[in-house]
Amino acid sequence: MCGIVGAVAQRDVAEILLEGLRRLEYRGYDSAGLAVIDADHQLNRLRRLGKVKMLSDALDDHPLAGGTGIAHTRWATHGEPSEENAHPHMSGENIAVVHNGIIENHESLREMLQGRGYEFTSQTDTEVIAHLVHWELEQGGSLLEAFQRTVSQLKGAYGTVVMDRRDSERLIAARSGSPLVIGLGIGENFLASDQLALLNVTRRFLFLEEGDIAEITRRNVDIYDVEGNAVERSINESSAEHDAADKGIYRHYMQKETFEQPSAIISTLEGRIDANSVLVDSLGHGAKDILQKAEHIQIIACGTSYNAGMVARYWFESIAGVSCDVEIASEFRYRNFVTRPHSVLITLSQSGETADTLAALRLAKERGFMAAITVCNVAGSSLVRESDIAIMTRAGTEIGVASTKAFTTQLTSLLMMVTALGKQKGTVSADKEAEIVKALQRLPAHIEQALTFDKHIEALAEDFADKHHALFLGRGEFYPIAMEASLKLKEISYIHAEAYAAGELKHGPLALIDADMPVIVIAPNNELLEKLKSNIEEVRARGGQLYVFADESAGFQESDGMTIIPMPSVDEVCAPIFYTVPMQLLSYHVALIKGTDVDQPRNLAKAVTVE
Ligand code: AGP
Ligand code: GLU
Repeated sequence: MCGIVGAVAQRDVAEILLEGLRRLEYRGYDSAGLAVIDADHQLNRLRRLGKVKMLSDALDDHPLAGGTGIAHTRWATHGEPSEENAHPHMSGENIAVVHNGIIENHESLREMLQGRGYEFTSQTDTEVIAHLVHWELEQGGSLLEAFQRTVSQLKGAYGTVVMDRRDSERLIAARSGSPLVIGLGIGENFLASDQLALLNVTRRFLFLEEGDIAEITRRNVDIYDVEGNAVERSINESSAEHDAADKGIYRHYMQKETFEQPSAIISTLEGRIDANSVLVDSLGHGAKDILQKAEHIQIIACGTSYNAGMVARYWFESIAGVSCDVEIASEFRYRNFVTRPHSVLITLSQSGETADTLAALRLAKERGFMAAITVCNVAGSSLVRESDIAIMTRAGTEIGVASTKAFTTQLTSLLMMVTALGKQKGTVSADKEAEIVKALQRLPAHIEQALTFDKHIEALAEDFADKHHALFLGRGEFYPIAMEASLKLKEISYIHAEAYAAGELKHGPLALIDADMPVIVIAPNNELLEKLKSNIEEVRARGGQLYVFADESAGFQESDGMTIIPMPSVDEVCAPIFYTVPMQLLSYHVALIKGTDVDQPRNLAKAVTVE
């Protein structure tokens, strides 16, 4: 979810906390706050709706001194974005808490705590943690013990940190479904939801594991596992760069961004799924209500984002049973369209600034759509600001003009949304949901596997370098993957490429087939395999050169005119995301051989902010 930063030091920490929050701004958030304990054991808190800049301006007016502190950027799930709902949350004067994620049983805990006389000052799920810690401390024991007893009562996905002004040089943190990392300093220690937040103060990190609780003082870090046993976690020296704009070991941004996909997807999933389910509330404040009422989905996007929408259309209809239309933004905005009843508009965009998509959103708002959701990669962008709900893809900065990790994280986000929708509609059973969630959990490892084909595909790319045309084929949700593959090849290698739904070949494009026209086929082992095999035969019979990226269990034999690239069998539902990766590698290597400007292809811009 959003950002957490904490520090225990001899020096004043407010500026360190603020800098940490700034470094996490890219994740998107709606409010920010911090609390610091000063030398007189006073706990002072400052919160602001809006940007970290507003919090830092407020701090200029009311400086907060103190060496122990916690800070947070909030992305509202329970309770509207407001100063009252911003973190840290407090119980009385003593306890302050920050929290990422969702406490699923917050309602019953709230009732129980109200019964014990606690008054709530926010609508958040988080506030129950503060009062529970307070209550448990009253029952006796240390802050650590009280926190352990608190955490054992929480259900959901969370990363949370607590401090008590009476025990002023200590932070206690718990990780369960939302990451936390401890940064080690000299005579001072830190923690954050992402090491990026702390790279200006340390390079030495301990990563908490699921269920871990950590007690952090200036000189010590003690970690306890889910059973309460003291455990050691190894120290990692970070080589992460300060600057996302550094290519590191890679030759091009596109290559770097392609290889970042496993970690980008992990980030997309973080805090949004647990072992068996999608946490609907994690999609945004009010998401549950919108999904419950939705009767139709209208997706609007451009380019690669449009291709993601085309994949999602198959999912919305086949998984969630909700009708879905997808349209290119530049067409939609100038068409006299009919708005269906209870229709939800979903815009997809890496940049959040694409002029046509933004214009379509503005128009749709006037034309009676029930709600507008955006799936976007850039926090604070226009689409994010102007939509009712923004689901951030969290792919990190994408610099290469050819979109890679933005696409696969869009698909990951959309699959979660489809599952959540189906769950609200009763079309996705608990078993089906668990099956999709397990597939999503395995997806980053499967993408790693796809990336191991790099060398193989590099060799294959030689065959394409002298070609002027290429045809990509797929069926079902792999047709839009073929569209994305052809867009990628066109964009960066300047080879003319087309994508066809394989069943459509015989209606015209078959006339193009000859030895000079490579035909790339995406062939997962699904219910359309036999149909696809017939389409492949149609090409073979006409002397076409085939390159079939096929599931190894699909029974393809290499032969004259047909090269098989065997792919591991992966979960069917996530296979479109998986097969995207070899396609990205193929266009990258063809472009390298052709010597084009991979990251800034001619005539193109990264964010198309003009019509
Ligand atoms: C993708 O490789 C392209 N450069 C382009 O099609 C892009 O996806 C399109 O311009 C939409 O951009 P957006 O996702 O930022 O809205
Ligand atoms: N569920 C909490 C809230 O709505 C935390 C949200 C977050 O992760 O930022 O306040």
